[in-house]
Amino acid sequence: MSPIAQTEENRVQVPLAERSYEIRIRRGLLREVGRCLSDLGFSGKVAVVTDRSLAKLYEPIVTKSLKTSGFEPHTIVVRAGERAKTLRWVSVILDELARARFERGSVLLALGGGVIGDLAGFAAAVFVRGIPFIQIPTTLVAQVDSSVGGKTGVNHPVGKNLIGAFHQPCLVLIDPETLNTLPRREWKAGLAEVIKYGMIADAELFAYLERQMGALLKMEEGPVAHIIARSCQIKASVVAEDERESDRRRILNYGHTVGHALEALGKYRSLIHGEAVAIGMVQEADLSCHVGFCSKEVVARQGELVRQAGLPHALPPVTFSKLWGAMQHDKKVAQGRPYCVMPEQIGRVVIAPLERSEFKRWFVNRS
Ligand SMILES: NC(=O)c1ccc[n+]([C@@H]2O[C@H](COP(=O)([O-])OP(=O)(O)OC[C@H]3O[C@@H](n4cnc5c(N)ncnc54)[C@H](O)[C@@H]3O)[C@@H](O)[C@H]2O)c1
Ligand SMILES: [Zn+2]
Repeated sequence: MSPIAQTEENRVQVPLAERSYEIRIRRGLLREVGRCLSDLGFSGKVAVVTDRSLAKLYEPIVTKSLKTSGFEPHTIVVRAGERAKTLRWVSVILDELARARFERGSVLLALGGGVIGDLAGFAAAVFVRGIPFIQIPTTLVAQVDSSVGGKTGVNHPVGKNLIGAFHQPCLVLIDPETLNTLPRREWKAGLAEVIKYGMIADAELFAYLERQMGALLKMEEGPVAHIIARSCQIKASVVAEDERESDRRRILNYGHTVGHALEALGKYRSLIHGEAVAIGMVQEADLSCHVGFCSKEVVARQGELVRQAGLPHALPPVTFSKLWGAMQHDKKVAQGRPYCVMPEQIGRVVIAPLERSEFKRWFVNRS
């Protein structure tokens, strides 16, 4: 696999018939947001939804670009972090949109990490039954995963992402320069989602990560551009095959059956999403080996890469019943049984329903 060029713009298409859109990836793109919107035919009012940290860092760059292109930006700032993903904050955004007299043709920009993308995307999905929105992801998790695919929503105290809608963006603008200010912990958390793509769909990407993890931890431009573009290609192709997650798209939930349960058990405070996914992948691969889907070598190779990325891998102290109970609240449950994405090889997974007895046997005997 030849490295994806870093100087020119990378463009990835998400082919979804009349909902098709483009992902554009280039350093400095943030300063051209206004022009990109004009190219799509938008004009007039633009809502910029962002959080308190990004309001200082990048919102001024985006609004300046919008004004230069003749737009009228209206910024809406929410609290930072997972705890903003609530109906209360959706309501704050909707109130602002209504007060500023946004209409069906008005556009909304989600400037931030996955939390902002999910929250603002959901507000865009329900305001006057749907207004167009554009994703401008600023974390690695958001650039490689959450900004693509149209899943939007918020958490409920009972479970993560329980309230939501499918609403595709009409454009995704990725400026890898924004990653320079990302806290180290958030950067590493994003690498977990990239490792996930290697595990579920691309053995070459997995091997690339094994070779380049040192450079990635130093955030070298070439490898960073490569993993973003490759991850977007994989996500776009999976979403194009199964937009509403009836089948193939579920492979993207690898590591998330256990991961989401751990996030909920920690009340979204102790582990950030990518860390929970890293632990989830390590545990789900171990489970897969226990059930007989993959070899110990697959578990060991993945475990080593997770460790190299500086990500957590061990289950935090948790009882079987708490963990199993939390897994029941996930959306990935059918007739009381959660399903689990099990690796067979590096780059290939199967989706299997999970029996309580089997999961308990693994939990009690795990290494
Ligand atoms: N919709 C999907 O398909 C999908 C996929 C994966 C994850 N998600 C969701 O995404 C969320 C996690 O997103 P996340 O990991 O991006 O976390 P996040 O959105 O909470 O951002 C993490 C923190 O980094 C800060 N930040 C963001 N960009 C920054 C930058 N460039 N410089 C400095 N600070 C910056 C934010 O203010 C925040 O405090 C979870 O809620 C998860 O469920 C959704
Ligand atoms: Zn995820």
